[in-house]
Amino acid sequence: MTDQITPQPGIMEIALYQGGASHIAGQSDVVKLSSNENPYGAGEAAREAYQRAVHDLHRYPSTDHAALRLALAAQYGLDADRIICGVGSDEILTMIAQAYAGVGDEVVYTEHGFTLYPIIAQMVGATPVKVAERERVVDVDAILAACTDRTRLVYLANPNNPTGTMIGGNEVARLADGLPPQAILVLDGAYAEYVEGYDGGARLVDARQNVVMTRTFSKIYGLGGLRIGWGYGPRPIIDVLNRVRQPFNLSNTQLAVAEAAVKDQAHVAKSRENNTRLRAWMAEALAEHGVPSDTSCANFILARFASEEEALAADAYLKSQGLIVRIVSSYGLPKCLRITVGDESACRRVAHAIGQFKGGAR
Ligand SMILES: Cc1ncc(COP(=O)(O)O)c(C=O)c1O
Repeated sequence: MTDQITPQPGIMEIALYQGGASHIAGQSDVVKLSSNENPYGAGEAAREAYQRAVHDLHRYPSTDHAALRLALAAQYGLDADRIICGVGSDEILTMIAQAYAGVGDEVVYTEHGFTLYPIIAQMVGATPVKVAERERVVDVDAILAACTDRTRLVYLANPNNPTGTMIGGNEVARLADGLPPQAILVLDGAYAEYVEGYDGGARLVDARQNVVMTRTFSKIYGLGGLRIGWGYGPRPIIDVLNRVRQPFNLSNTQLAVAEAAVKDQAHVAKSRENNTRLRAWMAEALAEHGVPSDTSCANFILARFASEEEALAADAYLKSQGLIVRIVSSYGLPKCLRITVGDESACRRVAHAIGQFKGGAR
């Protein structure tokens, strides 16, 4: 390669995204609790739609995603014309940056926010600006203080990954209202369905011109492997995003399965109920073993250990017991491990293993 062939500014500074591990050498009875997946998988209706989709493999998919958008609008009480669908919410988050941020612009995200946000900022040549949280909770005043006339986007996951904490609707509205006029608040609702009665920020989107919400089928819908997400925003912003979206970004299979999944709210409700119950049980069991966590609003807990060494030793011990959890030092949380709420047997195994670890087993 010649010296003249160079990537765009910022690209080589991007740290490669690390997904959750799924194998342990030499172990067969392994439980993966490192990617916040739904332990019950996809619902029956989604599985059936997947089987049926085989008949349409030779057909190009719809470019306007009308059927899926209508199903989402009916389920969540939204305007279908202001919904956009993408390859995971990752794609929606990325399209927003492609369309609205570039060299010289700033993209704000929070201290323990999703690691994709700074990666996306660098991808488009913008400058990522990290803002401190207060005890693992987003600090609206700190975000507002960090905004400048170059701020184009503020990414906020609510509930946040990997802390599991969230801020209230009034705080989010205060943030939207305090942003400089050229900035968009991107409310990432990847875990919104785990919070009973929470709309992910949809009503705020309806009431403001500077807020976009993103959602996913990867978490409570149990479809992470299929890659489907969506966004909801003001009409002018959605119009812009549709111009940078690939026309055939979603396959027939993705569209059909997502539509079936959104119409199967019984699976969502059952997944949420199990998660709420087992999350509380696991958090309490770990706390009894001397491993506290903040109250989580999502499908994982952030277990806090006394030191980085202890967290790493706990991770190694859990691995020896066939349990894969997530080290979150890259999120600025070296003393913590993020543990997805699995099914009942997985939660019991985690609690038992942590008990053994704290009791001296290593
Ligand atoms: C906060 C947050 N946003 C977005 C995503 C991306 O999800 P998707 O699978 O829809 O791209 C994740 C996945 O872990 C996440 O934790």
